[in-house]
Amino acid sequence: VESVIVAIDGPSGTGKSSTSKAVASALGLSYLDTGAQYRAITWWMLSNGIDTADPLAIASAAGKPVIESGTDPAAPAITVDGVDASGPIRTQEVTSKVSAVSAVPEVREVITGLQRSIAAAAARGIVVEGRDIGTTVLPDADLKIFLTASPEARAARRSGEIKGSDVAATRAALVARDAADSGRKTSPLAKADDAVEVDTTELTLQQVVERVVALVEERR
Ligand code: C5P
Repeated sequence: VESVIVAIDGPSGTGKSSTSKAVASALGLSYLDTGAQYRAITWWMLSNGIDTADPLAIASAAGKPVIESGTDPAAPAITVDGVDASGPIRTQEVTSKVSAVSAVPEVREVITGLQRSIAAAAARGIVVEGRDIGTTVLPDADLKIFLTASPEARAARRSGEIKGSDVAATRAALVARDAADSGRKTSPLAKADDAVEVDTTELTLQQVVERVVALVEERR
């Protein structure tokens, strides 16, 4: 069987990560969480005293951190300068600053380069999840999926993941982050023309996974 590249894009809280990992596991493919890479570079900026409101400062530091991503869907790992970053990249502080950092073109250039080389090295194929994978990073992907869900469903899922969080506040933060990601100049969050849109509002994770796996099987 030839190697297959699957791009899964969409806003936060649509089930992208859970779906992407499960699809990769079911098909024996590698997995890449590109949001984790943008979070990792943001964490490095915050840890190194770079002002995340200053795009010029971010641009000149963009090439400094060494970010490495594991591609095992059962144990996705991420390190920055050799240090495990999987915990620190999920903090509220990183989440609130990541859109500003990821909007800087120099950051996207560095991270997009990493993503393309990881995808090229995946012998059996890979599931890559993000915001601009189908449009910009891997425009020749064999299958492009765009996941959506109502803001209510997305906020409920996200606050279920974060202990002690409030659904209304989660919803407001989520909507603001999506607006920033969709409104930026360089490779905004967008559905590729040839992507299959799946609305997950009324579907279970298992149903979404089955649908995507069936679409991959059709294409290879
Ligand atoms: O998917 P996750 O919520 O972890 O992504 C964090 C942030 O990283 C997004 O809000 C967005 O600003 C950025 N991102 C991006 N392009 C991608 C993936 C994530 O700009 N392909």
